[in-house]
Amino acid sequence: MIIVIDGPAGSGKSSTAKAIANRLNIQFLDSGALYRALTYLWLAAGKPDKAEFFENLPETVLQAEYRDQNFFVHLNGEDITENIRTQLVANHVSEIASHSQARDFVNNFMRNLVKNDTYVADGRDLGTAVFPDADLKFYMDASIDERAKRRFKEMKQSNSSVTLEEVKENIKARDHTDQNRKKDPLKKADDAITIDTTGKTFEEQLNEMIAVIEEKLKLKS
Ligand code: DC
Repeated sequence: MIIVIDGPAGSGKSSTAKAIANRLNIQFLDSGALYRALTYLWLAAGKPDKAEFFENLPETVLQAEYRDQNFFVHLNGEDITENIRTQLVANHVSEIASHSQARDFVNNFMRNLVKNDTYVADGRDLGTAVFPDADLKFYMDASIDERAKRRFKEMKQSNSSVTLEEVKENIKARDHTDQNRKKDPLKKADDAITIDTTGKTFEEQLNEMIAVIEEKLKLKS
């Protein structure tokens, strides 16, 4: 079984998906982290020509695992869980994620991963392109100011020197690239349930979604 949560940056998808995974004791998959991993790989290689970079992508060994409240990502054996959360990676990730080779690589990885367990996954195009037959689809959203404030707070915790204005500009730019790219843009699936989190507490939005999931599970059993 798979539950997907799509939405723009900072809408609360990841933290909500994690909380759902913990409450229901299921697996969590952070698709953005996988695009960040490819972006980190490209940056660490010194920003090579994209055609050459994507040609070599099949040799890359990507591993992901949700454990102890954290989504761990390993790339060619190296733990890059922390390295993918920098502003530099955030500044380039939409650019890398707009390439169809990057999307095919990440999509294949995710489809294989979810085969053997129950997952809640968060991303941009999961309900539309990656898992169109998902058991349950949510689309989370919030105002740009609220999303920027949340991301800023998150980044401050890791002692980042970034300003609120920079975070807001980055989110706006990413929204634009994510919504306008040709291949699988950020879009609400027709059959997704919209959750607008503006002005809601985390517990309120979580309880609202858990209630929908439990209803669905009841209908399935
Ligand atoms: O969720 P996040 O902010 O960590 O995602 C990082 C970037 O990855 C985001 O700007 C767009 C891209 N992404 C995507 O294109 N498709 C997904 N399913 C998930 C993320």
